Amino acid sequence: MNVLVIFSHPDPKSFNAAILGVVKDELENKGAQFKIKDLYAMHWDPVLSADEMAGQVPDHIAAEQRDVGWADLLVFISPVWWYSVTAVMKGYIERVMSLGFAYEYTEEGARGMMGGKSVLFITTSGADEKTALDSGMLDSMKISLVSGFGEFCGFDNVKFKNYYAVGLVSDAERKEMLADIRSLTAGMLS
Ligand SMILES: Cc1cc2nc3c(=O)[nH]c(=O)nc-3n(C[C@H](O)[C@H](O)[C@H](O)COP(=O)(O)O)c2cc1C
Repeated sequence: MNVLVIFSHPDPKSFNAAILGVVKDELENKGAQFKIKDLYAMHWDPVLSADEMAGQVPDHIAAEQRDVGWADLLVFISPVWWYSVTAVMKGYIERVMSLGFAYEYTEEGARGMMGGKSVLFITTSGADEKTALDSGMLDSMKISLVSGFGEFCGFDNVKFKNYYAVGLVSDAERKEMLADIRSLTAGMLS
């Protein structure tokens, strides 16, 4: 299986970086082919231009689209920032998963073009589970990532999991989260 991991965190010592480490390790264990897009390390420019909106595809965006096309599974890893993924990750989605590549409009309406692929979103929040539910944050994330992106683009399998209060919980709980992420990753490969 070919896996494209899209990672967005500026700090290599962050919990999100530890998540990336576990995902990478599990992909290696399972013998998956994988590529990692470390968006901050790539200095990813999230700004969608007017030319791109008009249908032009810059070479480096076409290269990203080839990598998405190559992948059977996309894994997005991001902290929750303002009830969403990071701006750079959002900009990756806006620029790479574009009209004519990830979706198109037909006489019957919008049609996703990512059939045959799966997508997994792993996010972490400062908020605990109750706050995330009561505030509507979790629903908002689900609607935008699962419905607005994954289902809209026609992925066969769309999975989203958030890990709560990651800065507040104990080291033991963070270890449990990483173990859970390992099984989640393995589950997406089978
Ligand atoms: C710019 C910014 C915005 C944030 N917005 C939210 C938010 O909307 N909801 C939330 O629960 N946590 C929010 N947080 C907290 C982060 O989600 C949390 O610190 C992160 O998941 C911890 O993981 P890390 O150690 O890998 O950074 C925000 C943090 C930053 C820096």
